[in-house]
Amino acid sequence: MKRAVTVPAYAKVNLFLDVVGKRPDGYHSLVTLFERIDLADTLTVELTEDGRIECLCDNPQVPGDGANLAVRAAFAYRQAANDSLGIRIRLKKQIPIAAGLGGGSSDAAATLLALQQLCSNRLPEAKLDRIARQLGSDVPFFLAQRPWALGRGRGEELERVTFPATLWHLLVYPNVPILTRTVYQAFALTAPRADVTLICRALKENQVRQVEELLFNALEPAVETLYPVVRDVKATIQRVTHSRPLVSGSGSTVLALCATEQEAQAVAQRLRERETGWQLFVAATKG
Ligand code: C5P
Repeated sequence: MKRAVTVPAYAKVNLFLDVVGKRPDGYHSLVTLFERIDLADTLTVELTEDGRIECLCDNPQVPGDGANLAVRAAFAYRQAANDSLGIRIRLKKQIPIAAGLGGGSSDAAATLLALQQLCSNRLPEAKLDRIARQLGSDVPFFLAQRPWALGRGRGEELERVTFPATLWHLLVYPNVPILTRTVYQAFALTAPRADVTLICRALKENQVRQVEELLFNALEPAVETLYPVVRDVKATIQRVTHSRPLVSGSGSTVLALCATEQEAQAVAQRLRERETGWQLFVAATKG
């Protein structure tokens, strides 16, 4: 039996996120378009004899206990498998934390997928799916291992979509971690303002300029009000490029679409020269 496996945990951006209602359970009903990108953490998941579940991370800001979603995923998996195995997760963090890029959710999904490879009594898909939904609204998207999906409900009701487009993104993280809950609490519900079918059509036709016009995030005003630095990030991006920036998910990462990798690197270089101290990443759709 294999004792360890190394897996990537990709990040996501939301090219479209509309909030269409508030639910009795306190969550918000969404229509969102997820895109998987090639910025990734790396996890090595190992079965051990000591019965402990732990996460060792190269970033000291990441907790090693139950506050870490990957650890919670390992506990949930072990309970569902009715096992007593020890699980050690070594996590190399590349995706910024609490940044609207789904890093924690992706680490959790990658843990579940790794355990499916390692354990002799694999969980049925339905059980794995139930665990993913319980762990968080974004986890099912990462578990599905697909480049695109439409999310409804809390974001966990997925519809498969396929597009021929490979997009290039500049991502700017202004070193401000944001708790998703804080943003939803500050969010004021208004009528739905955008139609996801339009951006889906533009992606189908590979019309990147049009996709850019149709980027939408209903959470953006709440993020900007709570964290004014996000407004500065957007304004700075607009000063160095014609691209229309957008907050990803509940922030604080701002994304800008670029026509090519070279353009994205050139914009990143112009931002670097401004010495803002912000973290910059160039990433493509992970097909
Ligand atoms: O599902 P997840 O644990 O990632 O959500 C974190 C928090 O974000 C929730 O506790 C909730 O306050 C808020 N949220 C929401 N509506 C969603 C997703 C998240 O209100 N669709």
